[in-house]
Amino acid sequence: MNESHANPKARVADFYSRVATTYDEIGPAVFATFGQRVIERAAIPPGARVLDIAAGKGANLFAAAEKVGPTGQVIGIDIAPAMVQQVQESIRLRGLTQAAMQLMDAEQLTFADASFDYVLCNFAIFFFPHLQQALTEFLRVLRPGGTFAVTLPGGGDPRWRWYNEMIGTYYQQEQIDLPPLLANAQPLPDLGSFTQLMGQIGFTSVHHSVEEAEFVYASEQEWWEARWTHGERYPLENMPPLMLERFKAEVFKRMAALKQSDGYHEKWRIYCVLAHR
Ligand SMILES: C[S@@+](CC[C@H](N)C(=O)[O-])C[C@H]1O[C@@H](n2cnc3c(N)ncnc32)[C@H](O)[C@@H]1O
Repeated sequence: MNESHANPKARVADFYSRVATTYDEIGPAVFATFGQRVIERAAIPPGARVLDIAAGKGANLFAAAEKVGPTGQVIGIDIAPAMVQQVQESIRLRGLTQAAMQLMDAEQLTFADASFDYVLCNFAIFFFPHLQQALTEFLRVLRPGGTFAVTLPGGGDPRWRWYNEMIGTYYQQEQIDLPPLLANAQPLPDLGSFTQLMGQIGFTSVHHSVEEAEFVYASEQEWWEARWTHGERYPLENMPPLMLERFKAEVFKRMAALKQSDGYHEKWRIYCVLAHR
């Protein structure tokens, strides 16, 4: 077992560094779509100070930078070095003086208490092994009256449920034990328990909205290539080549039934939880 496999956080950092170049770049921009949505929900005004935790390729960071304008400040942090480098380069190319990106573990924030008006954390809360401690840190860096926005998975598209089931079946048949990409000791609590935990930690007026969007992939090849650009790549890249070949062929056969005149549709659903300090 190499070092990155022994340490779940190193495994996550390695994985997201590998997908950094193509993340959200093939097929519809899923994460940028939801990033924009969350920024609208959070209603960030010009001049605000924003922290984007586990910022990835900047789906929220760039949308927030537009809202805060040149008088505000958006800092993104991420544990994957290549994500950080890519976002730093995009910030430079866009000439954004109000944005910055740093390499940092979300569970060990180096910012002073009450540093930010907004703290965001999208598509990432399930990566933190010490959830309560992480949320306590997020509250600490938020100023009194500030807003926290976090997204939770809201259930997959029932038309595609067979896909994950098929992954499970293949791994079972081949008797391959894949260590989870997520480092959590405990599974992420459901929405009700999660919002209750936020209240216990000290967040106030915790409320949520359901956010849905349907994305269209022009061809099965585009859909397949998009799987390799985010978390869904993990079980695929760990399949031995012959298993992967068989799996892909069976997936393409099965997905033919889902083809519509413009391609393959996939609905994503998340909960956007908002709260104040
Ligand atoms: C699914 S991506 C989401 C990125 C972005 N927030 C978005 O909405 O597109 C998850 C990100 O969480 C980062 N991440 C995972 N664990 C982390 C940790 N402990 N500290 C900081 N970032 C972490 C990964 O490197 C990855 O970039």
